[in-house]
Amino acid sequence: MKKDSEISRMFAYAGKRHWLTILGMILAGLSTVLSMFPFICIWFVVRDLLNAIVAGDINLATHSGAYAWWAVGFSVLSILLYFIALCCSHLAAFRTASNMRKAAIHHIVKLPLGYFSQNASGRLRKIIDDNAGLTEEFLAHQLPDLTGAVVMPVAVLVLIFTFDWRLGICCLIPLAVSFFFMKQMMGGDNAGFMEGYMAALESMNKEAVEYIRGIPVVKVFQQTVFSFKNFHKAIEEYKKYASGYALKCRVPLTGFNVALNGTFVLLIPVACIILSAVTGKASYQDVLLDFLFYCLFTPVCTTMMNRVMFAGEQLMAAKSAVNRIESVLNEQPLAEAGSPRQPKDDSVSLVNVSFSYPGSDKKALDNVTFDIPVGKTVALVGASGSGKSTAAQLIPRFYDVNEGQVLVGDVDVRQISKQELMNKIAFVFQNTQLFKDTLLENIRAARPNATREEVMRAAEAAQCKEIIERLPNGLDTVVGNGGTYLSGGENQRIALARAILKDAPIIVLDEATAFADAENEHQIQMAFEKLTQKKTVLMIAHRLSTVEYADEILVFDDGRIIERGTHKSLLEQNGRYASMWRDYQTSVKWKVGKEVK
Ligand SMILES: Nc1ncnc2c1ncn2[C@@H]1O[C@H](COP(=O)(O)OP(=O)(O)OP(=O)(O)O)[C@@H](O)[C@H]1O
Ligand SMILES: [Mg+2]
Repeated sequence: MKKDSEISRMFAYAGKRHWLTILGMILAGLSTVLSMFPFICIWFVVRDLLNAIVAGDINLATHSGAYAWWAVGFSVLSILLYFIALCCSHLAAFRTASNMRKAAIHHIVKLPLGYFSQNASGRLRKIIDDNAGLTEEFLAHQLPDLTGAVVMPVAVLVLIFTFDWRLGICCLIPLAVSFFFMKQMMGGDNAGFMEGYMAALESMNKEAVEYIRGIPVVKVFQQTVFSFKNFHKAIEEYKKYASGYALKCRVPLTGFNVALNGTFVLLIPVACIILSAVTGKASYQDVLLDFLFYCLFTPVCTTMMNRVMFAGEQLMAAKSAVNRIESVLNEQPLAEAGSPRQPKDDSVSLVNVSFSYPGSDKKALDNVTFDIPVGKTVALVGASGSGKSTAAQLIPRFYDVNEGQVLVGDVDVRQISKQELMNKIAFVFQNTQLFKDTLLENIRAARPNATREEVMRAAEAAQCKEIIERLPNGLDTVVGNGGTYLSGGENQRIALARAILKDAPIIVLDEATAFADAENEHQIQMAFEKLTQKKTVLMIAHRLSTVEYADEILVFDDGRIIERGTHKSLLEQNGRYASMWRDYQTSVKWKVGKEVK
């Protein structure tokens, strides 16, 4: 039941084109049947010639020419049908693979961001791209072959017994034995093997991508083989599967090949025995002719069984491919509210929020409560890993809380429609990624219908004018291409331009000045001010100078808020914030001192 359902699920992706797959299969089957006719024709040619030779006059072989032409005709027709079959199957296969990719891509954009930190991009790319490719390969090539392989044995059986059943059985026994070995290779443990093998391949792919990304770090720190421990482990795991399979198949594959190529071991002795038993010239000749037919026909059987085996192997791979793509499609997107509610205003509150990342026991946030009234700015500070980014990410629902509530305009974010929530919030990430596209499109990502002038205004407000003027094609320069790369600080300013263009009422800035140097920082600060005017702002910063004027500062430690208040009141409390501030002042003085020298 399940076996069929994978194939039919595969077909479903072809949409209207699935009938092309079926047509392809029928034509491939017909082509297979036709491909046997030339052998019969050749047999007739040989019989004609043999009769003429025996009669002593070669001119008696009057039909040979016609038979030969028939052989050519059938061959051409068979090839033609196969060609059309492949055209049909390819058209359907391309559609299937592209629909699979589209379905997966459309689906993953709906998944919570958390899914992507659990599933590295290398693995996702492999799952979607390679498995769609595998399905395409199977539908385009192996499925027509497989139909041929099913039709052929029937035709072979008919043919084999039309000539001499004794010699026919001699042909059939090796086929049956090779079939038995083939089942051994594909059945039992080996059926489940493909799943494990694919998983190992995916994990190797993921580690390879991670490894290549990490090469700069590896180089700088002069690391050695240990730095790609995970990659090495993934390769070893893959090796285990690949060589394990090879070892398992050692005996059956040898048996398969020996049986398939050993037809003559049976055919010749049996032909000899039959020949020794017959009397009379005519029947002697008949047996010889039949024997000749089987000699001609044996290679066809060998090719057929090889095709069946290959197609069978591909069938296993294609089934597993469908399952793997569907594992992505079955991931649940964040639940969308049935009857969405409208936020009252643009305030943000976290109420007794606790949260652990999926698969982790540790609470990244532990009973966190704070409010950001409309138009106010709240700053989060604290040590690395204290949960600041986590708190920020819960507001646009990158994840859903485990306990407590995140409210926007007094409505739980889970009850606000996704579109509404996204429209309300602009987020500047800790590490901004620009698309490999023009600056214009990069900024416009925030609001696709913005005009060029609006983009330019946002860019100017984000202090990007000088970047744009420096680039060869201004706003139309493609970044990440042909040596045009932006620095971390410049990237951040582009991200700020995006956020300014979006003009959302709630702004979340995660560590937006992390990359900035003194010059940059001043510019980013100015961009900030433009961006945050009259907005509800949550900002996270390590540089305390940027948070000094916030309406409230929350000090995070190990997922909890340990202090809260204004800059002034926190200094008076003389706790963690005051000590952070003193450290910060020292570091600034140290920097200034160095610069003065
Ligand atoms: N995607 C993730 N999966 C699992 N754990 C995570 C993930 N992201 C963060 N964490 C963990 O959650 C905790 C809080 O991380 P968070 O990123 O919120 O810290 P942060 O205060 O923003 O630190 P930083 O100042 O370095 O940016 C850390 O212990 C971190 O290891
Ligand atoms: Mg962070």
